Amino acid sequence: MRTHYCAQINEEHIDQEITVSGWVASRRDHGGVIFIDLRDKDQVLQLVCDPADNIDAHKQAEDIRDQFVLIVSGKVRARGEGLENPNLKTGKVEIVVEKLVIENRSLPMPFDLGDERVNEEIRLKYRYLEMRTQKSYDIFKLRSKVTMSARNSLDNLGFLEVETPIITKSTPEGARDYLVPSRVHGGEFYALPQSPQLFKQLLMVGGFDRYFQIAKCFRDEDLRADRQPEFTQIDVEMSFCDQEDVITVAEKLINDIFTQNGHTIPSQFNRITHSQAMEKYGSDKPDMRYDLAMVDVIDIFERCDNEIFSSIARAPKKNRIKALKVPKGDEIFSKRQMKGFEEYVKKFGAGGLGYFQMKEDGLKGPLTKFFSEEDIELIIKRCELQVGDAVFFGAGDKKIVLDYMGRFRIYLAELMDIIPKDVFEFLWVMDFPMFEVEEGKVKALHHPFTMPKMSEKGTLDYDDIEEIESIAYDIVLNGTELGGGSIRIHKEAIQEEIFKLLGIEEEEAQDKFGFLLDALKFGAPPHGGFAMGLDRMIMLMAGTDSIRDVIAFPKTQKAQCLLTQAPSPVDAQQLKDLSLRVRQTPTE
Ligand code: AMO
Repeated sequence: MRTHYCAQINEEHIDQEITVSGWVASRRDHGGVIFIDLRDKDQVLQLVCDPADNIDAHKQAEDIRDQFVLIVSGKVRARGEGLENPNLKTGKVEIVVEKLVIENRSLPMPFDLGDERVNEEIRLKYRYLEMRTQKSYDIFKLRSKVTMSARNSLDNLGFLEVETPIITKSTPEGARDYLVPSRVHGGEFYALPQSPQLFKQLLMVGGFDRYFQIAKCFRDEDLRADRQPEFTQIDVEMSFCDQEDVITVAEKLINDIFTQNGHTIPSQFNRITHSQAMEKYGSDKPDMRYDLAMVDVIDIFERCDNEIFSSIARAPKKNRIKALKVPKGDEIFSKRQMKGFEEYVKKFGAGGLGYFQMKEDGLKGPLTKFFSEEDIELIIKRCELQVGDAVFFGAGDKKIVLDYMGRFRIYLAELMDIIPKDVFEFLWVMDFPMFEVEEGKVKALHHPFTMPKMSEKGTLDYDDIEEIESIAYDIVLNGTELGGGSIRIHKEAIQEEIFKLLGIEEEEAQDKFGFLLDALKFGAPPHGGFAMGLDRMIMLMAGTDSIRDVIAFPKTQKAQCLLTQAPSPVDAQQLKDLSLRVRQTPTE
């Protein structure tokens, strides 16, 4: 139905007869001559219907509206001087229409295609129309190329692509499962995988050595701009490897993907420990495109004349006092703004937000009176303050202070517009804690199959369970967690010990992960791996800020598909077949 795609047509084709097909992007009637912009997958080409050239084609063109589907034959000609469109690849030529077939008509568009101000709900309902925009096509072309690069890269590295089940048993990645009721086994359920974690470990026990998969994962969790209930991972696992081997593979893979798709990035990425990341940036995924690091000042505050601060400072294990220097902050922000920042951090549990200003005649601010001259000097030195700088500090419980100061760092960077665009800053965050304790309950920070750091004797020695580190690492890109992984436990005894620490009883462990524990008894090799969020990677590469832009048919923040209206009720017979009964009010 075509001899060429629109994008292929240029001056070399002048005087040739061609056939193109696509959609009417726009139509203009210029006093009898009708101009049509025909768009196929990725380019627009101008068609001219002049009654002087072809009376029939012109007559048909009068009837044409936006997004009609045309198959058009005609001769290529130069547009002529002054009529060229430098913004179009095909802007020097046009087609004099000789034959025009209206293959299909279209209702008027429910929204202006390509106008990003249009309500997202309507764009998602008519997702297939939004796909006709250049932006959308470019994103999905990039996604396809990235997937191809990933496959080639991993193939070159000796990885085998293996598919793992979609209806399966629950995998513990920390979210709720999507469940699938079994018809054959009434009252029993499959779970959609939160990741292929356990299967990829079994593939290592199976001796496959190096596995990968472009894997669909499903997690029923609260959605955010970079989270979807259904998303894709580039999932990797390898055996007889240590952490460095895994990181080398991940860096090579990321390098192949980025360089093959037009970006130059370093061959190795910087590293920081989890604890350094938290202490300096208040985040386990710090954005390294800008500085604004925090400095510890708890020892100085311990000596101050203010009981609130000095008492906080006397418990340095539990508490933190952190200073955040903002270069030129005193010049940039008004006093009112500085006070206003307090409202921001209070939303995240701060009791207040102190500040100092570095003036010509020394350090100023409501709290300076509580410090000795030497300590004022020490603050200036520790924070490396120059005239015009401002320094903010937060004091209180460690977790709370690090959290709000970390958020404040991002808030300030955005406010001051100091985040460079078109830059990729990768960072490995290493040595994650093995556990976190929330409301007295011990949870695995990564997942329960992660290898803890053991003592030289091969035992787990600790005073505080939260101090146990794991051989787990995340790869962070521009402040977004792009991927994560770990070395796994390959010995049954250690796995059982970890389950015990997590409060998972033997019976429960058998019930949930018995198949894994069994596999560990049959010569499981040392192994480890990682998974990267493909959607997040495309989002960052495409420079968009919503994961929904890079998923062909995404869900809303409320996990609905506005196009198909999923989720939706099912008929009574289906429920009966599945041995299910639905309550009248689902929230009951
Ligand atoms: P993790 O849970 O860290 O690790 O997930 C790996 C990466 O998947 C992406 N991701 C998501 N992307 C979009 N929407 C979501 N809801 C979502 N959740 C996660 C992130 C994240 O870094 N099995 C382990 C990996 C391993 O240990 O090998 C796992 O799934 O980019």
